[in-house]
Amino acid sequence: MKILFLNGPNLNLLGTREPEVYGRTTLADIEAQVRQRAKEIKAEVDFRQSNQEGELVTWIQEAKGNFDAIVINAAAYTHTSVALRDAISAVGVPTVEIHLSNIHAREEFRHKSLIAPVCRGQICGFGAKSYLLGLEAAVDVNLQK
Ligand code: DQA
Repeated sequence: MKILFLNGPNLNLLGTREPEVYGRTTLADIEAQVRQRAKEIKAEVDFRQSNQEGELVTWIQEAKGNFDAIVINAAAYTHTSVALRDAISAVGVPTVEIHLSNIHAREEFRHKSLIAPVCRGQICGFGAKSYLLGLEAAVDVNLQK
């Protein structure tokens, strides 16, 4: 089973970026945790980050036929990007939306996710653990196929 992890803008700054909101774990640490767990459950993982919307769109398009599921932390694009939503909808690869913080407990503009309706489900508020929960959900979604 092949799972594509996509990370949106500013997540490359994890560790130093607003640690009171996002914690002190870096994206590299999170990737290592995901890879460790993936190894245990015999899943293959590709882990990417981009600050550019178009690059994320291209990666979602390329996932079709190459990955069994996508786990995405679209970061700020969650709340703004019709392009990401349309890409997820177009390719039909089962997608799990994740966030470190609980977006529903924060500013009002974060309450709305444009990608949520085209994702299988949303995991948010568990810090770096949201990524591991996302991995489990992505595997589960595939087992149900
Ligand atoms: C985030 C939440 C978003 O609202 C924010 O723009 C981010 C990170 C999270 O993981 O909690 O950049 O996706």
